[in-house]
Amino acid sequence: MDLQRLTDRLGGLAFGGDYNPEQWDARVWKEDDELMRRARVNLATVGVFSWALLEPEEGRYDFDWLDAHLDRLHANGVAVDLATPTASPPPWFTLAHPDALPVHPDGTRLTHGSRDAYCLTAPAYRRAARRIAAALAERYGDHPALALWHVHNEYATLCHCDHAAAAFRVWLRARHGSLDALNDAWGTTFWSQRYTSWEQVLPPRATQWHHNPGQRLDYSRFWSDETLAAYREQRDAIRAHSDRPVTTNLMLPGYQNLDLWAFGREVDLVSVNHYPGAPGVDAAAHAAFDADRARSIAGGAPWLLMESGTNTVYAEGRVLPKEPGDILRHSLAHIARGSEGALFFQWRQSRAGAEQWHSAMVPHAGPDSRIFREVTATGEAVARLGELAGSTVRAEVAVLHDSDAWWAMTVDGLPSPELDYYAALRRAHRALWDAGRTVDFAHPGQDLSRYRLVIAPTLFLLSDVSAHNLRSYVAGGGTLLVQHFSGVVDENLRSRLGGYPAAPLRETLGIRSEEYRPLRRHEVITLSDGSTASSWSESLRTEGAEALAAYTHGPLDGSPALTRHAFGSGHGWYLSTRLDDAGYAALVERLLTEAGTAPDLPGLPPGVEAVTRHAPDGRAWHLLLNHRPEAVPLPQPCHDLLTGTTLGELPPDGCAVLRAR
Ligand code: GLA
Repeated sequence: MDLQRLTDRLGGLAFGGDYNPEQWDARVWKEDDELMRRARVNLATVGVFSWALLEPEEGRYDFDWLDAHLDRLHANGVAVDLATPTASPPPWFTLAHPDALPVHPDGTRLTHGSRDAYCLTAPAYRRAARRIAAALAERYGDHPALALWHVHNEYATLCHCDHAAAAFRVWLRARHGSLDALNDAWGTTFWSQRYTSWEQVLPPRATQWHHNPGQRLDYSRFWSDETLAAYREQRDAIRAHSDRPVTTNLMLPGYQNLDLWAFGREVDLVSVNHYPGAPGVDAAAHAAFDADRARSIAGGAPWLLMESGTNTVYAEGRVLPKEPGDILRHSLAHIARGSEGALFFQWRQSRAGAEQWHSAMVPHAGPDSRIFREVTATGEAVARLGELAGSTVRAEVAVLHDSDAWWAMTVDGLPSPELDYYAALRRAHRALWDAGRTVDFAHPGQDLSRYRLVIAPTLFLLSDVSAHNLRSYVAGGGTLLVQHFSGVVDENLRSRLGGYPAAPLRETLGIRSEEYRPLRRHEVITLSDGSTASSWSESLRTEGAEALAAYTHGPLDGSPALTRHAFGSGHGWYLSTRLDDAGYAALVERLLTEAGTAPDLPGLPPGVEAVTRHAPDGRAWHLLLNHRPEAVPLPQPCHDLLTGTTLGELPPDGCAVLRAR
């Protein structure tokens, strides 16, 4: 079930997208065949939204129409990524099983008429999902067109119904063992919340004031586990009939409902969707951020960009267009970071229905359009990169990324609304991206010894195991930067006592933080090295560390703000405030230098993105993206796979894929 078979099957990297032919007629299908050949499409995701056609009434399947499309695609040289349609149950399903509709925290039960109108914990939904997955696998498990299975679509929904409450209680019993242990973990003695029977425990539904934080955190964990269980059931139903790899397309949004690390372990191939949240160079930085996350949750293995938009930037409450050339640039940004291809949502822009204004490979204007010309050019470019298949990316720097810590930061009642996990992660990654370094994300409990530098932008919740792991990393020679409000609570959100952060990390960093002092909105402070900071400050004292910058204001005047501690063979740095952008960039540059890191391709100016993919046999390729408006000379002339020529310089806003060895 390995990925090698997928790229062998495709004869190189994947290019294509979601194909929903049921929206069109035979004349259009004929044109699709021709246009797909022109655009060098070799993989199409089929069936994502086809439940109503595949199972027009409960238990009665109609596969004839899908047979015809799979046969047609196969004859046209296009492999199929076959989806289970379970993200969009048809109206008959919800009418037959109203208890399977999702319920909001305030008790509102939703209705059908959109998509994703199901509760993942409803037994009727789970049965129906398993059944249709099995039926599809039985019919198409060894269809010659089939290259990949695509379970569901963007698992992300939440629910607070009675089915969810019952499943939550089962999960809580398994986690805590006894009601006493749960009461203790959640601190229910306070506010008189003590539970005396399991039936009293609820999902965090709408309530009068703050939810119990332990309840909120456990609900997030439970929901992710439940979602994973739903995925596994479909995957296993498929595996009973088919040996093709199975994936689910993960969304990587700015919130999180899923433990991405756990999903990474359960799929045969990590696949993700990416839609930039800002235009221009910020879109490129966002693509790099998501691509690095995808590769990291894949454990460094090749992964796949399952969806992106040809002309879609979700920003400012609008669907903004991409810049000319971005279809290729954004595709290469993902391929540079380990994607085995570039796929889009969707092949042909819908004429009607809920996603009429989402861009596509063939826009409403038809093939005589800028978008289709760029799609074709991108398809040709991707086709020239076949030799990259199976190669991987290496990073010397990691940013810590932990689902528990993220969920923990979403509970009510934290000391500042500016404590934002996603924003902290993005900022650390952006500073490293601006500095031209390739970055992995890493779990705080994993082996970190291969990284020269590790940054923990925020680790509010830190388990004992992870705290000891960070200690060993530094003791063994690593450089670790920990940022404010880290190591504060244990796995159950109970505060660490005796000073922050948690004991083993405190020794590693050689500091003790006694009091958190959030700053006022818009308040800016100056540190002794002249840098400015905002948002947060701490009453910190050194216990072995050296102070590199101190506070210069109010009661904290003269006390350390930024520290460095020589510990074992490494160094633990602590930053107790939020530096402004220039100060943070300077700190990151200093850490990169002190930790002895180097860019993948040294000698390029800022604004040129360069990532190297390495094949197991020693071959390597530099993928370059020039974000500068002028040409940039290359450190040495190299053969470029995109143009088939030897390139001495990168054109303005241009890209290249250089054969390095
Ligand atoms: C997501 C979904 C698709 C589609 C696109 C539109 O990625 O998976 O079904 O809705 O967004 O941009």
